[in-house]
Amino acid sequence: MKFLGKPRSQAAAFLPLCLLFLKILQPGHSHLYSNRYAGDKVIRLVPNTKEEAYTLKKICHQLKVDLWQPSSLSYVSEGTVTDVHIPHNGSRALLAFLEEATIPYKILIEDLQNTLEKENSLQAQRNRRSLSEYNYEVYHSLEEIQNWMHHLNNTHSGLIHMFSIGKSYEGRSLFVLKLGRRSRAYKRAVWIDCGIHAREWIGPAFCQWFVKEALLTYRSDPTMRKMMNHLYFYIMPVLNVDGYHFSWTNDRFWRKTRSKRSKFPCRGVDANRNWKVKWCDEGASMHPCDDTYCGPFPESEPEVKAVANFLRKHKKHIRAYLSFHAYAQMLLYPYSYKYEAIPNFNCVESAAYKAVSVLYSVYGVLYKYGPASSTLYVSSGSSMDWAYKNGIPYTFAFELRDTGHFGFLLPEMLIKPTCTETMVAVKNITLHLLKKCP
Ligand SMILES: *[C@@H]1O[C@H](CO)[C@@H](O)[C@H](O)[C@H]1NC(C)=O
Ligand SMILES: *[C@@H]1O[C@H](CO)[C@@H](O)[C@H](O)[C@H]1NC(C)=O
Ligand SMILES: *[C@@H]1O[C@H](CO)[C@@H](O)[C@H](O)[C@H]1NC(C)=O
Ligand SMILES: [Zn+2]
Repeated sequence: MKFLGKPRSQAAAFLPLCLLFLKILQPGHSHLYSNRYAGDKVIRLVPNTKEEAYTLKKICHQLKVDLWQPSSLSYVSEGTVTDVHIPHNGSRALLAFLEEATIPYKILIEDLQNTLEKENSLQAQRNRRSLSEYNYEVYHSLEEIQNWMHHLNNTHSGLIHMFSIGKSYEGRSLFVLKLGRRSRAYKRAVWIDCGIHAREWIGPAFCQWFVKEALLTYRSDPTMRKMMNHLYFYIMPVLNVDGYHFSWTNDRFWRKTRSKRSKFPCRGVDANRNWKVKWCDEGASMHPCDDTYCGPFPESEPEVKAVANFLRKHKKHIRAYLSFHAYAQMLLYPYSYKYEAIPNFNCVESAAYKAVSVLYSVYGVLYKYGPASSTLYVSSGSSMDWAYKNGIPYTFAFELRDTGHFGFLLPEMLIKPTCTETMVAVKNITLHLLKKCP
């Protein structure tokens, strides 16, 4: 046991033995997701030329890679970063191709299954340490999040009201929390949604963090008190409930909803391409098997339709729309679907600049900011553009940590720093709304 550095207690020495028994007794439980990611890699590629980008797209399509960044092969271009998750049986072919074509690459994750399971065993230890309190530094399943919402609704009725805005494709309730001090006076509101894309787990974790912070600090923190007194926050911790659930039970890297309508074998629509704003144009796919599939028609997804209906009904007092994604470390505002500047560019731009500056001041994490079209890429049918076009003057999409080191598998150790810095940015933006800037 010398290699462990310090002597272990008897109980600790016994632990591997117990785990061994557990493995024997429960063979089905020894691997997450039925071991489907064993030997899979995540690789970062940067094609140098147009030709390289073209051939790269072709081979990625052939090998059926799971694209992590950008969201569609159509965005792959020379000089820009592409992160791909390549299944084990395709990685030899891809690596051979990259060597042959001398396209620069870097292996970000050597064995995805390994990485997933290492993180999972750490999670088990963390959970054990805090049984008495709700743990905001782990990722929670949909069921846990919904139980948490019910619990808050029952215990914090002065500040929280929980309601449903409809049902998902698979029949799950679409729950929203209305947060803020009840008042007879007119109050403006902020809409916040997380988890439009299923695999971006840090999003729902942030929505929960936001609610926790509000409840914990509104008495002691004047900024939070102001927010709770002067605004309502509509918070939807998991917008794409079916997809999120599926990312826990079947495929950790699932992005879309889970609807099935066409004759194609593929399920799901990209819930951030399904909105009625330049629907299914540039940056969206008409093919049901693609990750950016726009759906058969706008608002075809019950989850999207429910949120759109709610926003249409309440748009008079909703001043801001905030949507949480990962990963890229960016703060984006409209437009997504075209390169033009928005009418209130100056106000929105200065809000974004300040938010990113205060975010940086916490841990020195850099965020890019700007119109989504020129900062990330052009995409049509997004919720942010739709909300803006429907009269909400401040609409933003956050792309949270990181920039690809862990990608969608952001370790739970980073939930706290990520949410802490994001929190100051969101507070700064919402206080900006209370000032005069149309
Ligand atoms: C890899 O395996 C999957 C499922 O077993 C299969 O559908 C796919 O075609 C295989 N890919 C290659 C490149 O052999
Ligand atoms: C939240 O609590 C209120 C009572 O305070 C109740 O009327 C409402 O049905 C609850 N919401 C949900 C979704 O259970
Ligand atoms: C927002 O951040 C800026 C710095 O970027 C700061 O000057 C300003 O005071 C902050 N506003 C609020 C209300 O926190
Ligand atoms: Zn996303």
